[in-house]
Amino acid sequence: METPKEIEALLKEKRIFKPSEDIVKDSNIKKFMDEHDIESYSELLEKASDYEWWWSENSDIIDWFEPWDRIIDKSKKPFFKWFINGKTNIAYNAVDRHIKTWRKNKVAYIWEGEPGESKKITYYDLYKEVNKFANALKSLGIKKGDRVSIYLPMILELPIAMLACAKIGAIHSVVFSGFSAKALRDRINDAEADVLVTADGFYRRGHIINLKANADEALKDAPTIRHVVVVKRAGNDIEMRSNRDIWYHDLIEGQSDECECEVMDSEDLLYILYTSGTTGKPKGVVHVHGGYAVGTATTLKYVFDLKDDDIWWCAADIGWVTGHSYIVYAPLILGATIMMYEGAPDYPKPDRLWEMVDKYGVTIFYTAPTTIRMFMKYGEEWPKRHSLKTLRLLGTVGEPINPEAWIWYYKNIGHERCPIMDTWWQTETGAFMITPLPITPLKPGSATKPFPGIDADVLNEDGKRVIGKGGYLVIKTPWPSMLRTLYKDPDRYIKTYWSKFDGVYLAGDVARMDEDGYFWIQGRSDDVLNVAGHRIGTAELESALVAHEAVAEAAVVGIPDPVKGEAIEAFVILKSGYEASPEMKDELIKHVRKEIGPIATPSRIVFVPDLPKTRSGKIMRRVVKALARGEEDIGDISTLANAEAVEAIRKSLK
Ligand code: PRX
Repeated sequence: METPKEIEALLKEKRIFKPSEDIVKDSNIKKFMDEHDIESYSELLEKASDYEWWWSENSDIIDWFEPWDRIIDKSKKPFFKWFINGKTNIAYNAVDRHIKTWRKNKVAYIWEGEPGESKKITYYDLYKEVNKFANALKSLGIKKGDRVSIYLPMILELPIAMLACAKIGAIHSVVFSGFSAKALRDRINDAEADVLVTADGFYRRGHIINLKANADEALKDAPTIRHVVVVKRAGNDIEMRSNRDIWYHDLIEGQSDECECEVMDSEDLLYILYTSGTTGKPKGVVHVHGGYAVGTATTLKYVFDLKDDDIWWCAADIGWVTGHSYIVYAPLILGATIMMYEGAPDYPKPDRLWEMVDKYGVTIFYTAPTTIRMFMKYGEEWPKRHSLKTLRLLGTVGEPINPEAWIWYYKNIGHERCPIMDTWWQTETGAFMITPLPITPLKPGSATKPFPGIDADVLNEDGKRVIGKGGYLVIKTPWPSMLRTLYKDPDRYIKTYWSKFDGVYLAGDVARMDEDGYFWIQGRSDDVLNVAGHRIGTAELESALVAHEAVAEAAVVGIPDPVKGEAIEAFVILKSGYEASPEMKDELIKHVRKEIGPIATPSRIVFVPDLPKTRSGKIMRRVVKALARGEEDIGDISTLANAEAVEAIRKSLK
């Protein structure tokens, strides 16, 4: 392990990791620079500040059925459009075009189930499977513009279903398989989906999770769904409702393995993905075929330097944007071989992932800091059992990585040979925004600098740049993979992202820029928590709690947690007639898991007689948070209406 002194130096941002010459010399980014007579990283960023130039130079990363004639339309900002009049289809780029090349028989996915079985499918296999399911969807009456909800675990039918939707121009809305029935129902209803694709069950920590039971519960109140397609994965007992439910294998039986690709405008909708915001209602982030394809593929090509002989493993779940962009679309567009794993990363033993790295010869590995911190706790003896010799690059995403975890990852997984790409981005941005390239000197804990063509900045309340201090992280110019709107809610799109500073995208994060122009992301600036790399709104958690018959009011705050980054703590006022007991705590925890899903499990519930509020009745979460952290100084409470609540909470915490 690193000595504390070295860590101290790192924390002071003194140690810089130079780019690896071995990687730089043959890298995709170096090739681009050579072709454009660009000599240095700073020159590249400078040149790409002409973002229209940068993206037009890279727009041929995908094939166009008809070329675009203008790169961007800013006339209705912030509703930007990209690659105007271009015609394409992301599924064509991800699958069909490879069939005409030597990649036809290249492995597209290496899949491993939690129990240990594995499958490899080639691009040609994928092509046929996507076509069969696309035809199957058509047979159910699905056509361009219709919405299909997908509630599947990490099995191959998930990317296949997404690609099949894209191919026929249907809009997919994937709901993470760890979400509850209620969360699924709300997402289906907002999207007004006609079809739900789900599975009987899947494996997690040796158990079978009955996914279909959740789907059935959700469907009790999801009137738009006409058909439910069920993949048989775990063979568990489920109910199949006649006239509504059909087995996936029965549906594709006899379907043709050829299917014409729908010609899509670059601005046609590809998917909706719901993400947490500051109200109880999740936001439906909308992405489109053209710009999203260019943005995701370009970032993956240059940041992780993806090449044809790589085996790429993004160890996220496809239910989140990380998986949409970097397990499905970008790597397939690049024709990569992609690793996909069904189960828990530490099951049956804490070296499951490292065993798989050696077994399949994974060359690039990308995960969340929370996972790295979990492995740190298990100890370095687990990765030591494996050679990990094939790895050449590593990455992280989802939350800030503390320098200690960075160093642990660098030493114990990367063997001091692999640079770590700390990629900052969001569901809304679609693709990496602030991230190193293989040519970037690294500072552990910093996502370094904006990707070429991205104009990020840190502003104070007055909209002026601040250096060396925390401020609002913003993006000042548009980019192709940006969200186009919030589904059915353009006003919320404007209000959430474009209202704080005129014409500037507000990310909702606090960041600090250092003297070298490096970005240090510090966390959210709004009431959104980041628990183990997952975004959860405090308002969502609070409305789940008050939905319980015993709860009168609730305030939820995030507390620093050594593994999860943030842990959920709930301060609850019970209605009269209900008793504050350990059983009640358990019941409320169960209730939140049921309402939202296991990712939302509170780590502590505190019963309190009162909550601190402003005169207008708004709960002062900042005060609750300070109290929860045991801080003596709880900050400015001049706007607090009920000062006695502070002492009451202190007492409850004792
Ligand atoms: O707070 C930032 C954090 O995750 C948020 C985005 O969450 P989501 O849309 O769920 O997407 C997660 C995966 C892209 C951001 O607003 N975040 C993401 N990446 C980083 C990060 N915080 C610090 N460093 C990162 N590399």
